[in-house]
Amino acid sequence: MPVLARILRHTFRFPLQSALSLVMAVLCTTLVLVLPGVTMRFIDVIIGQRRPDLIWSTAAIGIAAILARQLLFTLRTYVNNSLELKLTHLVRVELYDKLQRLPVKWFDSNSSGEIMSRVADDVPTMDRVMIEGVDQALAAVLQFLIVAGYMCYHSWQLTLVTLAPLPFIGLLTSWWARRSEPMWRASSEASSALNAILHDHLAGIRQIKAYTVEPKALETFGAASRKVGEKHLRVMRGQAIVWPSVSFIAESGIILMVAFGAYWALAGKISAGTVISFLVAWGFLFDPISRINTLAQTFTRGIVAAKRVFSIIDTPDESHITEGTRPAGLRGHVRFENVSFDYAADSPAIRGLSFEAKPGETIALVGATGAGKSTVLNLLTRFYEPNGGRILIDGIPLAEISKEWLRDQLGYVTQESFLFNTTLRENLLLAKQDATDDELWAALEAANAAAFVRAHPEGLSTLAGERGGRFSGGEKQRLSIARALLKNPPLLLLDEATSALDNRTERLVQQALENLRADRTCFVIAHRLSTVQQADRICVLDGGRLVEQGTHAQLVAQSGAYAKLCDAGFAFDPRPAA
Ligand SMILES: Nc1ncnc2c1ncn2[C@@H]1O[C@H](COP(=O)(O)OP(=O)(O)O)[C@@H](O)[C@H]1O
Ligand SMILES: [Mg+2]
Repeated sequence: MPVLARILRHTFRFPLQSALSLVMAVLCTTLVLVLPGVTMRFIDVIIGQRRPDLIWSTAAIGIAAILARQLLFTLRTYVNNSLELKLTHLVRVELYDKLQRLPVKWFDSNSSGEIMSRVADDVPTMDRVMIEGVDQALAAVLQFLIVAGYMCYHSWQLTLVTLAPLPFIGLLTSWWARRSEPMWRASSEASSALNAILHDHLAGIRQIKAYTVEPKALETFGAASRKVGEKHLRVMRGQAIVWPSVSFIAESGIILMVAFGAYWALAGKISAGTVISFLVAWGFLFDPISRINTLAQTFTRGIVAAKRVFSIIDTPDESHITEGTRPAGLRGHVRFENVSFDYAADSPAIRGLSFEAKPGETIALVGATGAGKSTVLNLLTRFYEPNGGRILIDGIPLAEISKEWLRDQLGYVTQESFLFNTTLRENLLLAKQDATDDELWAALEAANAAAFVRAHPEGLSTLAGERGGRFSGGEKQRLSIARALLKNPPLLLLDEATSALDNRTERLVQQALENLRADRTCFVIAHRLSTVQQADRICVLDGGRLVEQGTHAQLVAQSGAYAKLCDAGFAFDPRPAA
């Protein structure tokens, strides 16, 4: 099974620890043999040959073996657990690293809750196969072989009788393993779906409360939760029948063994001690089999989890951010040549778009909501790659430029302001890791954000809250602008950067942005005439196409789409309700 082989390959990253664990498993198992041996000696030698002098030494051997076995168990538990934790950590970090390399497009079609359940639940479930599963399966096979060998040595006939139920048990368990895999998968998927709903509802808790749709939300959550239970119950129902059947077959075997043992002992073929030692050994022989239940479950669930983890690991990366050329400097000449792009098939967001921004120019993108303005910026940042045409920066195709280098040149104030749930200082330092507090305050001052930050007793150490929830939309927007100002990048992308500000604040921030716009190429998406008017060129988008371009004066004179927008008061982009 390739998935299993792949899981095992992970384990061999710690060869020493894995080997130690296996050696201890072998030792533990070998010690198992002392007990039936000691029993046989008690019956056949000490009682049979009347040797009371051997009682205490034999008992001491038995107890020493039991003690050694348990000590080894302790050591094994410790070694295995530390191995498991190390592996889980390794795989989890690898998965996270992989997630960061996946293209933005991938995140459009995979929900956060679902991804979270893969990282949090599937990784440990998969690793349990590597440690518990493999270690116990090997120990079980080994124990079985050693005990069966011991039995054969004493009476191969009785051993055959003892092993008679095995083929039936083997058939039943392998049938169940195959059958239960899709059931475990369904159960896992149901859990992920539940997580996704929970994540979504928590993110939208204000909307749920505002629209008083708590009962409806509860119902959705309840249905998903019930489904998890139902899917899990299907597996459990199967287990409830399969495992007792296995035990029934195994335990009927004891009676068969003792019956044949008694028959052969009466015939004088074997000693009574042998029969009794078989009885003791039987426990050790079938102990691995009784553990098949948990083992099969560990394996089947682990394989289901591993498939989910590997499906992320196998998703093609976008080219690594460091791949590609790193020009010596950026003049800021941007050219779109017949660029087309769609997020999903059959719904083009950008169609045959061509325009040019010369170094230092400010280009305003205007158009109705959904016209494709933000998409233009998404393409410039290489969050998405065009389906057709090409974008050139200083004459170099964007596709050939290192994403890291490109993004280091960009200041991007996104349409929806986002702050991480950490201090304001750390949120700002994203833009410039070695900035001093003085620089941070200067940026805040320029973005007209210093006053409200100062009003917080904690100042720059104030926590932003989840998604920056402790700050208003306008405050978040100013913090995002401060972040871009701090970076002081040669290429500036402003997506409705001032949409959540009141008129007075906007004028103040506008002034700061104006200063920032000097000497650098700038793309501005704005909803206000005042911003757009000053642009060197205005590009009017409609349905993903460029319908007009020119200066404000030229476009007004054309009395085309732009002039109509101006007449309509320019209120074509509603302010985000942040
Ligand atoms: N992540 C996405 N997945 C699928 N479709 C998207 C995505 N983002 C935007 N779109 C669609 O692409 C079109 C252009 O969107 P956008 O560039 O955000 O418009 P604008 O910024 O002009 O309001 C819209 O029809 C929108 O629904
Ligand atoms: Mg937009």
